Amino acid sequence: MITASHKQLADLLRTTDAERLETLWREADTVRQANVGDDVHLRGLVEFSNICDRNCAYCGLRKENSAMPRYRMTTEEILDCARQAMDFGYGTIVLQAGEHRSMKADWLAGVIRQIKTTTPLAVTLSVGERPAEEYAQWREAGADRYLLRFETSNPELYARIHPVADGTLADRLDCLRVLRELGYETGSGVMIGIPGQTYDILARDIEMFRELDLDMIGVGPFIPHPCTPLANHTYTNDKDDRQVPNSELMTYKVLALTRLTCPRTNLPSTTALATLNRDQGRERGLARGANVVMPTLTPKNYRRLYEIYPDKACFSETPRAYHLRLQQHILDMDRTIATGQGSSLHYVNRKQRGRYACPA
Ligand code: 5AD
Ligand code: SF4
Repeated sequence: MITASHKQLADLLRTTDAERLETLWREADTVRQANVGDDVHLRGLVEFSNICDRNCAYCGLRKENSAMPRYRMTTEEILDCARQAMDFGYGTIVLQAGEHRSMKADWLAGVIRQIKTTTPLAVTLSVGERPAEEYAQWREAGADRYLLRFETSNPELYARIHPVADGTLADRLDCLRVLRELGYETGSGVMIGIPGQTYDILARDIEMFRELDLDMIGVGPFIPHPCTPLANHTYTNDKDDRQVPNSELMTYKVLALTRLTCPRTNLPSTTALATLNRDQGRERGLARGANVVMPTLTPKNYRRLYEIYPDKACFSETPRAYHLRLQQHILDMDRTIATGQGSSLHYVNRKQRGRYACPA
C-alpha cells in the first residue's frame, strides 16, 4: 500500500505530464499484478428493476423522471440469468436495482436462496440503503457481497446532489458499517467529475477508500443524463483549476491511484468508462489497475430501460456475443479469466484476521 499524502494524491490527479502519467500506469499495473495477479474476474450483472424511490440529481432512474418506463423482472427471469452466468463460467451474479420500498425483503431473500441452492454462484447485491434487519435477512439467505457507493466523501457536495429527504452521507456510511459488520464483502465507490467535485475532494475520496478498508471499489465517470437536474454539465477541460473533469483520463488516474492505495481490493473496469471509450476503455481500465469486469446479463428488452446515464456501452450485443468478445480481449492482453467465486483478497485477509468491525 502506498501512503501518498493528500497533496501527492491531488497533485497526481492534476498532472498532465506524460512521463508522470506513464509511470503511474506502470506502477498501478505492477501493483495489480503483484497483489491480485493476472486473473480478471467476470461478474454477471442483472439489473432486475429500474423502479426507484429516490431523486439523486445525477441519475436517469430518479423517481421524478417520468419519461422512463419502469420494469421489474420476475424471479424466474432472474433465475434464467443465473443459469446463463453459470453457462458462461462466471462465479458471481450481481443483483442490482433502483432503491424501492415496494421491493419486499422477503421476496429478494427468496431469490437469493434459490440462486444459492441451485448454483455455485456468489451473490452480490446492489439495491441501495435498506434497514439493517433486511441486510441481515439477505445475508442469512446467502448473499455474499454488497455494493453501495458513497458517491463523494464531501458532506456538502453529497447534500447538493441528493435531496435532504433521501438522507445524508452519514446515513450512507452507516449502511456501509452495518454491511461490513454483518460479514458482507463490502464495496463502495464514487463518480468522477460530478459538478462541484474539486481535486481536493477527489483526493479525499481515495483516502476514504483506504480508511473504510473496502473490499471492492467502483469508480466511473459521471455521464450527464438529459432528464436530470445535472443534464447540462459537460466539461472535459483538464486544465480547469478546481472542477474535476468527467473525462476518460481522469477515470484512469483515479483507478490507478486506487490500486496503489488499496492493493488487494477488487476494482472493476466500469461500463461508464467503456461508454466514454467504446473501443479501448474497458481494456485500458484493466491495464491501469482494474481486475474485474461486470458484463450485463439483463435481458435486452429491459436493458435499454436501465438508463442510469445515456448511450451505455454494450446495449446492442447479446450477452453471448459480448461474452465471447470480452473473453478474447482479456486473453489478447495476456491476462487470464478467473474461475470460482473470486472473492476480494482484501476480504479474505480481513476474515482471516477476524476483522469485521469497522476501522476506528
Ligand atoms: N453517470 C455515471 N454514473 C452514475 N451513477 C448514477 N448516475 C450516474 C451517471 N449519470 C452511478 C452511481 C450509482 C451507480 C449505481 O451508478 O455511482 O451508485
Ligand atoms: Fe435511484 Fe440509485 Fe439512481 Fe439514486 S443512483 S436515483 S438510488 S437508482
